[in-house]
Amino acid sequence: MKAIKATGLEYIYPDGTEALSGVDFEANAGERIAVLGPNGSGKTTLFYHFNGLIRPARGEIQVFGEKIQKENMDRIRERVGLVFQNPDTQLFAPTVFEDIAFGPKNLGLDPEVVRDRVSQVLRRFDIENLARKSPANLSLGQKKRVAIAGVVAMEPDVIVLDEPASGLDASGITGTMEMLDELNNEGKTIILSTHDTDLAASWAERVYILNKGRVFRSGAPRHIFADENLIAEAGLKHPVIVQTFREFRARGISKGEVPLSVLDFMESVDVKVMNIRCAIAGCDISAGDEVGLEMKDGMLYAALDLRSVTGKAVFSGKKGEDIAVKDVAGDLQQLAGSITIVRVPGIIEGGSRAVEMDRVRDILGGSKGKKIGAMGTSAKVLMNRTGMKCDFEFDVIQSGMLAVLRGFDVVIFASGKMAERAVEKVKEKKIDFSYVSL
Ligand SMILES: Nc1ncnc2c1ncn2[C@@H]1O[C@H](COP(=O)(O)OP(=O)(O)O)[C@@H](O)[C@H]1O
Ligand SMILES: [Mg+2]
Repeated sequence: MKAIKATGLEYIYPDGTEALSGVDFEANAGERIAVLGPNGSGKTTLFYHFNGLIRPARGEIQVFGEKIQKENMDRIRERVGLVFQNPDTQLFAPTVFEDIAFGPKNLGLDPEVVRDRVSQVLRRFDIENLARKSPANLSLGQKKRVAIAGVVAMEPDVIVLDEPASGLDASGITGTMEMLDELNNEGKTIILSTHDTDLAASWAERVYILNKGRVFRSGAPRHIFADENLIAEAGLKHPVIVQTFREFRARGISKGEVPLSVLDFMESVDVKVMNIRCAIAGCDISAGDEVGLEMKDGMLYAALDLRSVTGKAVFSGKKGEDIAVKDVAGDLQQLAGSITIVRVPGIIEGGSRAVEMDRVRDILGGSKGKKIGAMGTSAKVLMNRTGMKCDFEFDVIQSGMLAVLRGFDVVIFASGKMAERAVEKVKEKKIDFSYVSL
């Protein structure tokens, strides 16, 4: 089922600017789509069409198979929610509470239902403390959060966000992307615009590149970003990870497909062609010694007793010094730690309040010395309740897997469906894991 299908869209602003010149666009239900393009390429104009805010000069838009027309505009706006780039365009009520209540009220819902919905999104977005404040007095990050909350409170099937990451700091961006992932896991179609190719590469299932009011190219990130000329011609910057990979590949160090994450990138590196640097454990080593490799505190160490992974010392060194090892035999992944994924009920399943704290304390008690991460709102709230500090704040599942590959044992608390997604990712990378559902 297509959530959105636009065909041959053309749009000319009253001053004669031709902003869209024949755009075809499709979003499948439940998909995560990033629309990339330099300033002025038509991203905002295209998004305004998706909920009928502006009407095309030519072409048409269908929402779940229904053509947008004057007559069905109300129904369309229930199904497609639009978050503006600048939250000041959207926020106007005297308090955050009233602002978020405005949309649901307009849908004609009972006052009680409206109140419930508002409380639910305030909790989901962790902004209960802002409810009585005036939107005008919030920081940009808070305003953007409230603006998204206002749209989510209307429970649309499709959420369209114009540059949700722009102007936010790193933790604001991570928080926003995590919220969007959570909504996507609950079945919402998410379409966002950005000029951040790193963000698009790591997040989107499909990418559209707009240029001068046309679709320059669309496809899976792996294909789009593999094409060196395409990205440059589109006026975009290569994702850092892709650029690094290209430099490595040109020097014979990396191989395979273009990576879209640090984890993928690690896999592309051919350790056989490099000398591996490691520290020497409690002994002295001479050049040419056969050594065994072990992983401790996230670092590789060489020792004289042989282990499952072995190599040959390139030069001599004393205890604690760095040396290089060549001719590595055995798979470094054997030295990896393991990961435990703990599923915390998602917001719509009652969140952290549905959890018995004793079980959490048991898990944490058995996790001494392990690295801990939390992804999604209910998992984060749960960790706050335990008073534990998380080791991973950003990119939790990837950071957790990278830590495992460095020999750490890791516990990740994940909200709702995010837990299942985490399990899939861990399986994909053949990492040793266990799964607990709270
Ligand atoms: N209100 C407007 N009046 C006239 N031209 C506009 C207006 N809004 C946008 N444009 C023009 O339309 C083109 C597409 O703009 P826009 O959709 O905002 O692109 P993007 O969001 O990719 O930066 C640009 O050339 C821009 O200058
Ligand atoms: Mg724009």
